[in-house]
Amino acid sequence: MSQQQVILVTGATSGIGRHAALELATRGHLVFAAGRREPALRSLVEEAARAGGRIEPLVLDVTREDSIVEARAHVLGTTDGRGIDVLVNNAGYGHVGPLESITDDELRGQFDTNVFGLMAMTRAFLPEMRARGRGRIINVGSMGGRVTFPLMGAYHATKYAVEALSDALRNELAPFGIHVSLIEPGAIHTEFGDRAMDVLERYRASRSPYAGVLARAEEVRQQFDRTAAGPEVVTNAIVHASERRRPRARYVVPFSTHFALLAFRLLPTRWMDGLLRMVIGLRWGSLSAPRSAPLLNG
Ligand SMILES: NC(=O)c1ccc[n+]([C@@H]2O[C@H](COP(=O)([O-])OP(=O)(O)OC[C@H]3O[C@@H](n4cnc5c(N)ncnc54)[C@H](OP(=O)(O)O)[C@@H]3O)[C@@H](O)[C@H]2O)c1
Repeated sequence: MSQQQVILVTGATSGIGRHAALELATRGHLVFAAGRREPALRSLVEEAARAGGRIEPLVLDVTREDSIVEARAHVLGTTDGRGIDVLVNNAGYGHVGPLESITDDELRGQFDTNVFGLMAMTRAFLPEMRARGRGRIINVGSMGGRVTFPLMGAYHATKYAVEALSDALRNELAPFGIHVSLIEPGAIHTEFGDRAMDVLERYRASRSPYAGVLARAEEVRQQFDRTAAGPEVVTNAIVHASERRRPRARYVVPFSTHFALLAFRLLPTRWMDGLLRMVIGLRWGSLSAPRSAPLLNG
């Protein structure tokens, strides 16, 4: 076991964040687990206690400044003003749908949580790390920050942004002794898919030009689910980036994600486009609805 650290994990009410928070707590770290759903935080605290770990619940919406100010005050109060050693920026969701149907508000919502929320949390918790001359920021990006799938353009755009921000932060903060790591997961079993399918529901109008594709979205989701890994592969990377003396700049997980990224790099774009359209079902025959139809909830 490494030295005990104070670690804040955002998006800890489910999926990757929940799994990582539990593992970090059982490894002896003091974990602040953050999220909007209070009952989910309570059950996490109880589960950690049963496993002999300590988790402090933090009701937090990363898109609200007042919520971040309150969370920071609570963390400083609990740690005698010392703050945290490691910030895991994990909170995020995927707004899935045909890009031309996604409204400006929906696109901004994606960036508010996945990008501006991550930056606001980073700014809020940096000062104490800098004062100590050490600290770690771990951003959960996605393989979707390196390649783009159809119907996931809005979400992947946020993860491209997380790539750029993480790369710049890594060099800007290195002189202060603060390491920045980026985790790039492929498909992982969590609540992410269910939430994305809920969002997709609103585009599933029978008169939408994309109706044929969206009708088989659940089938496509099941195909992705069959290849998905468990959250432990991401947790292992988070543990490594938190505890190792020399954390990596990037963690691509699970290992099979490397092959997918390699295929995108080596094969001609035209081939990969054809493959993606085939998998998603974006063929002329499946886009046969009247072209003049309203795009949203037809
Ligand atoms: N699952 C995958 O296949 C996959 C692949 C690549 C990357 N990722 C990334 O992994 C991260 C975690 O996702 P997951 O797969 O574990 O999905 P998940 O089970 O849906 O968890 C998402 C977490 O984010 C939190 N969250 C969402 N909006 C928030 C907000 N405004 N303020 C605070 N917390 C918020 C949710 O908590 P509350 O709703 O309680 O606030 C929840 O705890 C995300 O950044 C996602 O993009 C996932």
